[in-house]
Amino acid sequence: MTVEPPSPPESQPEPPVSDTSGPGLRIPVAAPGRAAGERTAPAASSQDESADVASVYRSVGGQPFFDDLAGRFYDRVRNDPTLLALYPDQQQLGPATRRLSMFLAQYWGGPGTYSEERGHPRLRMRHAPYRIDSGARDHWLDAMLDALDHTMGALDRQRLGLSEEDAATLDEGFRSYFRMAADHLVNADG
Ligand code: HEM
Repeated sequence: MTVEPPSPPESQPEPPVSDTSGPGLRIPVAAPGRAAGERTAPAASSQDESADVASVYRSVGGQPFFDDLAGRFYDRVRNDPTLLALYPDQQQLGPATRRLSMFLAQYWGGPGTYSEERGHPRLRMRHAPYRIDSGARDHWLDAMLDALDHTMGALDRQRLGLSEEDAATLDEGFRSYFRMAADHLVNADG
């Protein structure tokens, strides 16, 4: 399994948080009749390799994974006064959960519903109205990584055909993405 870490923001014309699809983190999905996470054979060529991988979106079971992650994240926002203060309109927390879920699903290889409904992500621009200093970033990241722990912990690896190693690779891919993306969205000192 290969994990290609996302490029640093400055090396891309569009920052990673604004991309419509995610980095090349690809996880094998067990074909019918094959043991979970087992590869056919050492790939003879990179083409064989890519025939045996699927997008992260499919690997984690699709939209329900991202709905669960965004839902758990916003549960934490509701209980974190520092984060909650950034959301002046509490009525928006439900719609905000859906926007985050759609965005993450799209970024990691799912349907393009976010862009169809909202246009190009341009997350730096969309976050400009909010004062995001390093403290706010840390709260955001703590809430997200905690939500991720629960969502990953609840994954039915057997049903999805994911080995423990596959799940660890996915987990690390998500974590490094969120760390990088959150750093990238800091727009104020402090
Ligand atoms: C660094 C700390 C961050 C803070 C304090 C923050 C805060 C916010 C706030 C206040 C909103 C408005 C709620 C809404 O109406 O949707 C928002 C929207 C959003 N955030 Fe963040 N955010 C942070 C990082 C991130 C990161 C790292 C991502 C992606 C990985 C992200 C993805 C989004 C998305 C997709 C939206 C909805 C954009 C739209 O379509 O309007 N945010 N964020």
